[in-house]
Amino acid sequence: VNQIVDESVPPEVVAGCPFEAWSGPAKIARGPQVFSGRVNSRGFDLSDVSELARIGAAVAEAEPRGPVADAGAEVVEAALAAAQPWDAPVAERAEVLRRASDFYEREWGALFAVLIAEAGKTLPDAVGELREAVDFLRYYAGEAEAAPAPSQARGVFACISPWNFPLAIFTGQVAAALACGNGVLAKPAEQTPRIAAAAVALLHEAGVPAEVLQLVPGEGAVVGAAITSDARVSGVAFTGSTATAKAIARAMAGGMAPGTPLIAETGGLNAMIVDSTALPQQAVRDVVASAFQSAGQRCSALRCLYVQEDVAAGFTLMLKGAMDELSVGDPGLLETDVGPVIDAQAASEIRAYVEAARAEGRLVKQLDAPEGCFVGPALISVNGIADLGGREVFGPVLHVATFKAGQIGQVVRDINATGYGLTFGLHTRIDTRVQEVSDAVAAGNVYVNRNQIGAIVGSQPFGGEGLSGTGPKAGGPHYLQRFRLGPVVAPAA
Ligand code: NAD
Ligand code: ALA
Repeated sequence: VNQIVDESVPPEVVAGCPFEAWSGPAKIARGPQVFSGRVNSRGFDLSDVSELARIGAAVAEAEPRGPVADAGAEVVEAALAAAQPWDAPVAERAEVLRRASDFYEREWGALFAVLIAEAGKTLPDAVGELREAVDFLRYYAGEAEAAPAPSQARGVFACISPWNFPLAIFTGQVAAALACGNGVLAKPAEQTPRIAAAAVALLHEAGVPAEVLQLVPGEGAVVGAAITSDARVSGVAFTGSTATAKAIARAMAGGMAPGTPLIAETGGLNAMIVDSTALPQQAVRDVVASAFQSAGQRCSALRCLYVQEDVAAGFTLMLKGAMDELSVGDPGLLETDVGPVIDAQAASEIRAYVEAARAEGRLVKQLDAPEGCFVGPALISVNGIADLGGREVFGPVLHVATFKAGQIGQVVRDINATGYGLTFGLHTRIDTRVQEVSDAVAAGNVYVNRNQIGAIVGSQPFGGEGLSGTGPKAGGPHYLQRFRLGPVVAPAA
């Protein structure tokens, strides 16, 4: 049973660090991903060659960044002064959000072009991202309509999002707040303002009033800090690094009314265990996807792989072979598996990290990569997850450790000791082990015999515990509860 929000929790606790623990009912996902027809976008027809050509042309012409104005202090003040809750019946709000989801699908070519040009998304990642954004709009529209009465908006929400899902997470936060009747000040990451501007334009076109949804792009330390310390804001939805979440928690405690909710979805140090009963071909495929898809720039990505010693030599050989099949390069090309990391600074920091491992003799393999913001996927040997030193290297870098038969309990304790708890993967054919390990591991989402990325809205609520987030899980039935006042009711199972 999921934890139910306790509105009486004092702000020091809500905003406290480390975050309150939060697990959900959908902790275990097994087997293939299942889209339910009710809320999920059916995807896009990539066989439409003329549309793909249009995307290619748009990407080629696009400037990598901008132009979207940076809202300075004055613009933020004006936005705060103008901000309004959405005073419309829930049925109307839901209809507008569903209309917006149709507009997102209508504009798929243009949105893909911006995602590729601005965020370096590969085409498959752009597809997944737009799908997820559409799903959030439809799912939260339905969840708002199903809310128990009486429930009411809190007021105005600050929605602060990261660059790695600049459309999906941006849209998810905004849709949740709007669905409940809140106004929104939406602060996208500095690196990805254009896709946010495109999303806001579609939401306005669909009927969200301009004063209800305002885009406030700009520096986190300026714009983000201003809207998370202002008493006119009644709640904060944040996704990004754990360090920023802590800074926001402190700012909120200083400037906002007691009890103002902070919904923080943060980083992960995610592990996977592959035991000697696992099917290696399947596990290797899932390791590669979990660690290197999206150039490792997913909070859910696999960072530390534990392979049982008995099978480690053969498994590592297969893994290295599978890595050789990856194509690293231009995100606009269909054959590309691993695109760039977000910017030159990130590339240089990740490269320096890999070079340090090389100097210590721990680099097992690294693929070549083009010049620029590309980092070749790398495999680094470690004794265990503690060797990562609590650092989330946000790129295509996989650490690998071995364990002996009988040591799984200790491995799980080591994983839990990091304090993070976002995703966890397990490959095994031992059924009792699935339950034992899933129960013991402190992670929001546990994936069994599959990859550990790409949670699906409405089917696999996503979110972590400990340093990985405050809960409730995004894309799940409890998420909207923190965006509104009113009775807190456990949804039907
Ligand atoms: P970040 O924390 O640097 O930035 C996130 C957002 O916070 C940006 O919009 C930024 O401008 C803003 N910000 C920065 N300082 C601020 C401040 N003092 N006050 C208010 N806002 C501020 O994160 P990032 O580099 O954009 O994203 C990568 C991180 O996000 C990784 O740690 C990743 O694991 C995490 N992430 C988590 C999830 C999840 O669902 N748990 C999903 C995606 C990304
Ligand atoms: N929701 C995203 C995933 O599951 C972050 O990969």
